[in-house]
Amino acid sequence: MSVVIRPIEAKDKEEWVNLWTGPGGYIEFYKSLDKITPEITNTTFERFLDSNDPTYCNVAIDSSTNKIIGFATYLTHRNTWTIEDSCYLNDLFVCESNRLGGVGRKLINSVYEDADKLGCGKTYWHTQFENHRAQLLYTKVGVKDGFLKYSRPE
Ligand SMILES: CC(C)(COP(=O)(O)OP(=O)(O)OC[C@H]1O[C@@H](n2cnc3c(N)ncnc32)[C@H](O)[C@@H]1OP(=O)(O)O)[C@@H](O)C(=O)NCCC(=O)NCCS
Repeated sequence: MSVVIRPIEAKDKEEWVNLWTGPGGYIEFYKSLDKITPEITNTTFERFLDSNDPTYCNVAIDSSTNKIIGFATYLTHRNTWTIEDSCYLNDLFVCESNRLGGVGRKLINSVYEDADKLGCGKTYWHTQFENHRAQLLYTKVGVKDGFLKYSRPE
């Protein structure tokens, strides 16, 4: 499969929303369809397109169909320990039927390249303990940094 990775564009909205909140998509994978309202989806998409907003998205396109088969979203932010901003990989998704073909790896590499271009000193992300499938990829493209994640109780 030949895959092209590029920044998301306005014309991608319908396809991206389908991978995001559609059946078999990313938000369903996280069982969070009740949390992500159309307003959140629309605002997030608008932020991708806003060059003044530090919210980004790269999409993976299957060259034979020209369809979007995956995406990575990432954010840049200040870091008190460095002069440079840091890059946080927020979401990573590849369609079920296109997995294990190297698309996830390509998307992460595209984020690394963009983080370099944006002058970020560090790129990092979280995953769930039980997401073993993702971790099989992450151990090849990243290192565990030894930190645990905590959140304010809801
Ligand atoms: C995690 C996810 C993005 C990986 O995408 P992918 O395109 O299948 O990943 P890749 O094909 O690039 O990477 C697979 C690598 O991990 C390994 N791997 C992944 N799953 C594996 C499995 N079930 N068995 C064996 N190896 C596996 C492969 O060895 C491969 O390494 P290689 O490139 O050296 O051959 C995809 O499974 C997905 O979208 N999952 C649902 C959403 C999700 O979990 N997102 C991540 C949230 S943190």
